[in-house]
Amino acid sequence: MSKLVVNAYQRQSKIDRNIYGHFSEHLGRCIYNGIYVGQGSPIPNTNGIRNDVAQALRRIRVPVLRWPGGCFADEYHWKDGIGPVEKRKKMVNTHWGGVVEDNSFGTHEFLELCRQLDCEPYVNGNLGSGSVQEMQEWVEYMTFDGDSPMARLRSENGASKPWRLKYFAMGNENWGCGGNMTAEHYADEYRRYQTYVRNYGDNKIYKIACGANVADYHWTEVLMRDAGRFIDGLTLHHYSFSGTTFARKGSATDFAVDEWYSLLRKALYMDELIQIHKGIMQRYDPRGRVGLLVDEWGAWHAVEPGTNPGFLYQQNTVRDALVAAVTLNIFNKHSDRVRMANIAQTVNVLQAVILTEGEKMLLTPTYHVFDLYQDHQGATLVGSYVEQESADDGAASPADGETNAALSGTIVPNLHESASVAEDGTLTITLANLAHEKAYDIDAVIVGHAARDVSAAILTGGMAAYNDFDAPERVAPADYTSEIRRAGEGLAFKIPPRSVLRLRL
Ligand code: AHR
Repeated sequence: MSKLVVNAYQRQSKIDRNIYGHFSEHLGRCIYNGIYVGQGSPIPNTNGIRNDVAQALRRIRVPVLRWPGGCFADEYHWKDGIGPVEKRKKMVNTHWGGVVEDNSFGTHEFLELCRQLDCEPYVNGNLGSGSVQEMQEWVEYMTFDGDSPMARLRSENGASKPWRLKYFAMGNENWGCGGNMTAEHYADEYRRYQTYVRNYGDNKIYKIACGANVADYHWTEVLMRDAGRFIDGLTLHHYSFSGTTFARKGSATDFAVDEWYSLLRKALYMDELIQIHKGIMQRYDPRGRVGLLVDEWGAWHAVEPGTNPGFLYQQNTVRDALVAAVTLNIFNKHSDRVRMANIAQTVNVLQAVILTEGEKMLLTPTYHVFDLYQDHQGATLVGSYVEQESADDGAASPADGETNAALSGTIVPNLHESASVAEDGTLTITLANLAHEKAYDIDAVIVGHAARDVSAAILTGGMAAYNDFDAPERVAPADYTSEIRRAGEGLAFKIPPRSVLRLRL
């Protein structure tokens, strides 16, 4: 019997809805075909945006969407993506497959997408190759309500009223694809650019600075020290790469047991990363004003055989669902500082929640985790603890590879949980069983909340089970309520291997 203890008296931080955010880049088939098909498409759409995709994203209540990149953001010139579509300038998407970008999806289309999804737009500005003036004018174009050159231009393009825009970032991965800068240099650049990102009227911009790559603690230190007072949100990127090195990534669907655990180990590493970055932020900002935004995370595998390597199209299995489950539990538990997170990416790229093929669409196992975790959005984190043992018996990761080496010997626990109470009083517990073949009996002790009106849903399947266009519902959540028994003041149940369980009380 493993004990799960939830203490609903122990109210902690509010789980920002934006932790359940998404990221959509001009990369492969994410925007084009995946989200946007254009008004003339035979695929049912509203103003060019696929109805099926928009509906599925509304169902999981996507709270915030980041766009246009990624690496693409620091090459993007927003004026190329406004005005009559046929007159828009074409460019080469040098980062992602060298394809021609026709700019038919631009500022107006993105903000229309956010309107349809009823989510907050998060626009990533170009600091790497754009000018201060270009960035300043973009914000003016989107948010100025009055008579100005950019407001007039916007009006000529069909939007007389400005949009509301809160989240705006200055650059992406400026330690790499966004200009290969040092932390010190970027901190100075950020200070300069952010000066001209204005608040027009009552539109208040939440200013986001590019943060660290994985364990680059020096970057966080310098940004907080040199620019902290100008920053509202500082980002962090961490991907869980399968395989041994970045260059030798593993298959999304064909892997052995040790690769199951090595990927989960990398996902669990997020906890240590946040802990340490948070510690640095705490020294410069003890009141917790600056948010930590993990605006790119997820599993990154070799591309599906036969697809363009620059398009980053990968399948999505139960292993990826477990990556999502533990990562979201970790974010919930760090919601005192983590105010936003954006899975990479929404459709057809990396750990996508949706895959499309022509007019067909399917929901991946990762989508279903976002669905099961919905009730955590905006709820209050409460104390929870689960008795853990090693799921992998300390099994070694595949040899070599920097992250593998750093994490070798780190144990993958069998169970992983978080819990929250929503405003309407519902207690939600999400519990994952990471073991590849062992089920566990759980003795759940619930303190400070009546264990009644219990319902449960579970997502489980074979290690490498996935949905494809022949079997789009092979991996889907199922009702599990009848498996949950009352036991004293708590509950008792068995959690099967490779599963994500959501309990509602
Ligand atoms: O998500 C794909 C890419 O990964 C992004 O463009 C970049 O920011 C990161 O390196």
